[in-house]
Amino acid sequence: MSTIAVLGAGKIGESLLSGLLDAGHAPEKLVFTERYQQRVDELTERYGVHGVDVPTAVERADVLVVSVKPQDIEPLLDEIAPLVTPEKLVVTLCAGLPTGLFERRFAAGTPVVRVMPNTPMLVGEAMSAISGGTHATEAQLDTVEQLLGSVGRVVRVPESQQDAVTALSGSGPAYFFYLVEAMVDAGILLGLPRSVAAELVVQSAVGSAAMLREGEGHPVIMREGVTSPAGTTISGIRELEKHGVRAAMIDAIEAAHSRSVELGATHRRTDE
Ligand SMILES: NC(=O)c1ccc[n+]([C@@H]2O[C@H](COP(=O)([O-])OP(=O)(O)OC[C@H]3O[C@@H](n4cnc5c(N)ncnc54)[C@H](OP(=O)(O)O)[C@@H]3O)[C@@H](O)[C@H]2O)c1
Repeated sequence: MSTIAVLGAGKIGESLLSGLLDAGHAPEKLVFTERYQQRVDELTERYGVHGVDVPTAVERADVLVVSVKPQDIEPLLDEIAPLVTPEKLVVTLCAGLPTGLFERRFAAGTPVVRVMPNTPMLVGEAMSAISGGTHATEAQLDTVEQLLGSVGRVVRVPESQQDAVTALSGSGPAYFFYLVEAMVDAGILLGLPRSVAAELVVQSAVGSAAMLREGEGHPVIMREGVTSPAGTTISGIRELEKHGVRAAMIDAIEAAHSRSVELGATHRRTDE
């Protein structure tokens, strides 16, 4: 069993620690780093995992999971770059930061794997897309797939597709939350108490997601199953089409993709 260091145990880092422990990873094979002692104590008490300083984490671990905000990456890289050897596997969860940025800072040949997770990692239902950098092997990608598999599902994509992943599954939860918010508002408009409207909508979302995951059918077929001739659903669907909701969704995801490309270009320029 590899020793894993989570460098930056915030929302995503903590979820990963928690998921790894739930999946049976031994606490003594996990370490984390945090900036403030209060947070270290909190996590140690909650999970029985040791908070250590960054040099100790790099020395002890085989797998280094970088989970600080992209804007905090530079000081962390300055600290770890002289310590990281090609025997370590570096896994970056930092949105928008290319593997090349890490490879250029570490000893030649250091394997780096880039991951785009999403916030449902907090409940063990993340969607993560992983891409190997120049020196990452198949076996190392398998290791990362197994690691992220403890907190959700994992797909492999070429790094060139990470901006599309960011737009779709990285930002995706926000679009579902937005839709739920709008549907709850509609329930309130129709006179339902907020709590009842929220329960109706959330359980419908969970049930629909379970059908999508488990069913063999295409979403169109599933929607047709709820859409009877001259019924209520088709009246609603007509309004969605009239308001261009499908086109708005496509435009929204395309805009998120453009923004991800733009932010990536900023990082590449800063790195040059
Ligand atoms: N949240 C998302 O939806 C999401 C989705 C996809 C990818 N990601 C990526 O996941 C990463 C983590 O995001 P997050 O939402 O978990 O952020 P977060 O809650 O801010 O967690 C980052 C943690 O790292 C700590 N930290 C910063 N610099 C450090 C250093 N040099 N040494 C040790 N600890 C340090 C921070 O401490 P302080 O709070 O004291 O600064 C914070 O606790 C980001 O790179 C983000 O792009 C997040």
